[in-house]
Amino acid sequence: LASIAMLALVASALTACGVSTSPVAEQPFENELAIPPLAHSTVDDGVRTFHLSAQEGMTRFPGASAPTETWGFNGAFLGPTLRAQRGEKVAIEIDNELPEPTSVHWHGMHLPAAMDGGPHQMIDAGEHWRPTWIIDQPAATLWYHPHPHGETEAHVYRGLAGMFILDDDASVAADLPHEYGIDDLPMIVQDRSFNRDGEFELQHDGAEPGMLGDTVMVNGTVGAVQQVTTERVRLRLLNGSTARTYTFAFPDRPMTMIAGDGGFLDAPLTLDELRLAPGERAEVVVDFAAGETVRMRSLKTDLGGIAVPGTTGANDAFDVVEFRVADELVPSPEPSWSPAAEADADALHEEDATVTRAFELEGREINGERMDMSRIDEIAYVGDTEVWEVTSTQPIPHSFHVHDVQFRILSIGGQAPPPELAGPKDTVYLMPNVQYRLLLRFEDYADPTMPYMYHCHMLRHEDEGMMGQFVVIERGQEGDVGMPEGHHH
Ligand code: C2O
Ligand code: CU
Repeated sequence: LASIAMLALVASALTACGVSTSPVAEQPFENELAIPPLAHSTVDDGVRTFHLSAQEGMTRFPGASAPTETWGFNGAFLGPTLRAQRGEKVAIEIDNELPEPTSVHWHGMHLPAAMDGGPHQMIDAGEHWRPTWIIDQPAATLWYHPHPHGETEAHVYRGLAGMFILDDDASVAADLPHEYGIDDLPMIVQDRSFNRDGEFELQHDGAEPGMLGDTVMVNGTVGAVQQVTTERVRLRLLNGSTARTYTFAFPDRPMTMIAGDGGFLDAPLTLDELRLAPGERAEVVVDFAAGETVRMRSLKTDLGGIAVPGTTGANDAFDVVEFRVADELVPSPEPSWSPAAEADADALHEEDATVTRAFELEGREINGERMDMSRIDEIAYVGDTEVWEVTSTQPIPHSFHVHDVQFRILSIGGQAPPPELAGPKDTVYLMPNVQYRLLLRFEDYADPTMPYMYHCHMLRHEDEGMMGQFVVIERGQEGDVGMPEGHHH
């Protein structure tokens, strides 16, 4: 009875706010998967420096009637893969060559709030920004994208996104496929729709969960084909879509998950399917047999028996990428790794938690408030371990993301998290009306006048206000908390 009532509630809520249901179009799989280039960098005085220029361009997508106006970093669409090692100091020289202000946020990165690239670090058109910080976290697949308040969905949708791979001693020594573009593949999975003129279509019709495109692409390639020359391939999967959730699966084999958002799991995990909400990442290793052709699909996302139309689109499943496997394969190691030397220091312990905060996501609000650039919502202290109890209190899911930290999921509705959600995370899909208890610790970088963000990573929800701001301070800095002059955009 309870579940029937729940379904009725879901159905009425969805009719009330409208649902995007554009099905994903079947595409011929005949286009070589684009691999974003590794960004060039120079090391000078111990600083590894990258250059990113946000720019306009034109991109030809199969299925679009004409070339599409797109945005990219150092190119027409998406951006190069940045890569750095734990302990390195990095600097990113960013030029905004777009006709409007944007920002560049380092999703998943532990760094000072003033370097975070959130809505308080806007780069005006024609201007330059040079954030710099020391990489101080485990090896992981992170990403970067704009974060201008109210415009994040549009800027990401036009094409501004890229991967940021971090290495450490453990990842370098691991027995894992690691040849970038050969057996270690970045996979930025996104959806788009095109209008009759071939331009990206981003409707604002009030539909939930936001814009669901009818064309799925990987690294900007529609109907992508990847040649496989090794027995195993590592996929660094990033859900870079603004609203769509994917459930990745192969028709006839499991995947071996090795890492989540913030780095390695404790041990390799065999999975038949892997759900990624907007903003989430995972690394999986897939076994291939000589001479075969096989496609990775996205299945209809299982929300624990609650059918939320529009969450994956109207269709139940669609193909994402095709792998064509060579007749002779280079052997690959059985995936394994040992914990990093810093693992004990990085570990979070529930018994250390001294603060509990509750966050309820509903409508476009968190705890009854929409984002206000001039309001600090939460104050946290350097060194404190906290528990955040986060719940979507309405019958739709959200994708909850916290800046600066990697958290651990302590429990989901009172149960231990499934093993794929047990590693370090920065983004978590919130099933409706289920409480997620997150364990996090704020370290370093006190700044009473520059906040970090927490928000829904369904970007229309974020843009419309489902975001809040927290500062991290030292004890005694309470009186200094506030917004800096000149940062109200
Ligand atoms: Cu990927 Cu605040 O964002
Ligand atoms: Cu949301």
